[in-house]
Amino acid sequence: MELQQVDIGSEYHELSEEVLSARITARKEELGEKLLILCHHYQQESVYRFADMTGDSLKLAKHAAACNDKPYIVFCGVHFMAESADILTGDNQAVILPDLRAGCPMADMASLDEVAWVWKELASVTAVDRIIPVTYVNSSAAIKAFVGERHGSVCTSSNAERVLTWALERGDKVFFFPDEHLGRNSAIALGIRPEEIILWNRDEHLGGNSEDAINRAKVILWNGYCTVHMQFNAAHVRMWREKDPEVKIIVHPECTHEVVSGADHYGSTENIIQAVSSSPTGAKWAIGTEINLVNRLVRLNPDKEIHSLSPFQCLCSTMYRIKPKYLLWILDNLVNGEVKNQITVDPDTAKLARIALGRMLEI
Ligand code: 13P
Ligand code: SF4
Repeated sequence: MELQQVDIGSEYHELSEEVLSARITARKEELGEKLLILCHHYQQESVYRFADMTGDSLKLAKHAAACNDKPYIVFCGVHFMAESADILTGDNQAVILPDLRAGCPMADMASLDEVAWVWKELASVTAVDRIIPVTYVNSSAAIKAFVGERHGSVCTSSNAERVLTWALERGDKVFFFPDEHLGRNSAIALGIRPEEIILWNRDEHLGGNSEDAINRAKVILWNGYCTVHMQFNAAHVRMWREKDPEVKIIVHPECTHEVVSGADHYGSTENIIQAVSSSPTGAKWAIGTEINLVNRLVRLNPDKEIHSLSPFQCLCSTMYRIKPKYLLWILDNLVNGEVKNQITVDPDTAKLARIALGRMLEI
């Protein structure tokens, strides 16, 4: 979802990196305990350095839920993350996204209308009360509410396998959206056979599947994807294998199954950081995830040899929209008692979405 960002004015656009940095530091001090800045690992360094807490989607959601004493939560990430934080925090807390244009293209690949329509199509050929819907956290609050209302759960890249197991204990099938690849990688890791996994092509009747295939399927995948992680391919894996057999390959599960199955390890951004940071001196890594995180790992691990899996820069351009000037503009306004760019989920949607998020946090 792309929202409009107001023009913050030339006074901010003209500030140098040093001035921005000094003023953000001063504003943080002024706001003190009232302020919490959460940063996703894909944030650029000039913003990431101001984080009170950094993390993957799960860690940040948990942290937001636990911080009920912070009236202002500035979320340096993308829109769905700020929505989840708003759902998990109290009415007396404001969750703020410094640039409203920071959305997630993958989350936009599943609208409530489309998902509801597919659910109806499924109901015309199979027993939907035996299907458990699971949505990746990279989805709108409306989608999470849809799932919450139908006994389903949210998942993140660090718990998708656990959530799928939970869902298959409660139903015959899982309808997984919006990320085809996280869904397939998790299902295959659980031993679900490829013929029990079907892809729903939204442009075709019954998603391009026969009634028989739908009824035999255990996992039905939405055909959404991450534009960043789709840039890694099997040729990159082969290139590193041929170049240096000592290089270990670690990738995010939003990559295709070809890439994940060719890698040595896969996991969420937090898992990738842990694996690389805890490896011995001299370890060699090729990493298949967003470039700001890869570059940070290079800087923080000078005793290791770290590369991006792809020779091209795989940048998440929406995460990149959060810049120091927007962060400063938000903090200046907070100091003056004004809350800009607050992300609010309407109470009815929030109530149902909270059920789906709550299930995930319990699983
Ligand atoms: P995690 O940080 O949860 O691994 O997810 C990455 C992501 O897709 C952010 O959009
Ligand atoms: Fe969305 Fe991919 Fe960017 Fe994550 S990295 S915010 S999934 S586009």
